[in-house]
Amino acid sequence: MSDKTEMKRVFSGIQPSGQLTIANYLGALKHFVQLQKAGTECIYCVVDLHAITVWQDPNELRNAIRHAAACFIASGINVEKSILFNQSLVSAHAELAWIFNCVARMGWMNRMTQFKEKAGSNRENSSVGLFAYPTLMAADILVYHATHVPVGEDQKQHLELTRDIANKFNNDYGTEFFPVIEPVIEGIATRIMSLRDGTKKMSKSDKSDLSRINLTDDKDLIVKKIRKARTDQYPLPGSIKELEKRPEAKNLMNIFAALSETSLNNVLNQFEGKMFSEFKPHLSEVTVEKISPITTEVNKLMNDGKELDQILDAGAERARKIAEPIVQKTYEIVGLKETR
Ligand code: AMP
Ligand code: TRP
Repeated sequence: MSDKTEMKRVFSGIQPSGQLTIANYLGALKHFVQLQKAGTECIYCVVDLHAITVWQDPNELRNAIRHAAACFIASGINVEKSILFNQSLVSAHAELAWIFNCVARMGWMNRMTQFKEKAGSNRENSSVGLFAYPTLMAADILVYHATHVPVGEDQKQHLELTRDIANKFNNDYGTEFFPVIEPVIEGIATRIMSLRDGTKKMSKSDKSDLSRINLTDDKDLIVKKIRKARTDQYPLPGSIKELEKRPEAKNLMNIFAALSETSLNNVLNQFEGKMFSEFKPHLSEVTVEKISPITTEVNKLMNDGKELDQILDAGAERARKIAEPIVQKTYEIVGLKETR
């Protein structure tokens, strides 16, 4: 039996590990807001259980959860319309993740590039949670029977695994209970690169703060980071083909296009033949213009931690109402529980 509906339901998550960056904003948050505006049912989650797959200082984690929540709200998530909460408040995620640990195969998990990247040469000393990270992510999504998942490019493989898990579960148990999800990886900002190295992803966990623009950086810091951003010594190119050979130019021009909501071709036309020294102040200007209002709002929200906690609690309550029956039904399908 299937209680699958044709309805579109969006789910996505962001880890509360470090400061959120413009990459999170352009690759994820901006799309979350667009989907909300389109009237789709959206569930957004601060994935704190994912964050602790690598060490998090307990004295900082709670505030990091609030901070991530504040970034969602400041970016435009309306907590009346969309559901916003942190993962550890809804135990159904961890419960379904265990079932999925018994569905996913070691061979599939061994192919996950994010684990390989994060574990590096220290594989033997990585947490089991870091290895099992993608099954928890599949559970996050499928515990709501979500159909659409907006993410940046780096999460594509995890979403393919989520589809494999849903398919295998459905096949093994002769059901169509779990939907096969659609990744939503759209726009030109699906992979923003480090400001220090155009071949490396911008990441909130990068050691160098100069590699990223945080959603908390003030105007002076943004201008400084863009001024110091690595470039080559040539004038900016005029075609996408030329741009492909210039990782730093490509990244900065992409960021400019995404922030000013225009196409890359427009940006190429506007700046062809100009030097970085001329382009960078324009990039700073649009970055400050887009990011400053978010930063101001985040700071305001962070002044009232209790209010943020209440918002997350209320979101979790709404989330549980959807997730708990799906876990109970899963237990029935698996035979852990008598069918009602
Ligand atoms: P994380 O920071 O790993 O919790 O990622 C949260 C969301 O931001 C996910 O949808 C990621 O795919 C997206 N994201 C993270 N880093 C980047 C990046 N460098 N470029 C584009 N999207 C990103
Ligand atoms: N793994 C994602 C990231 O690091 C975060 C995440 C956890 C997520 N659960 C999710 C994203 C479910 C989309 C859907 O970016």
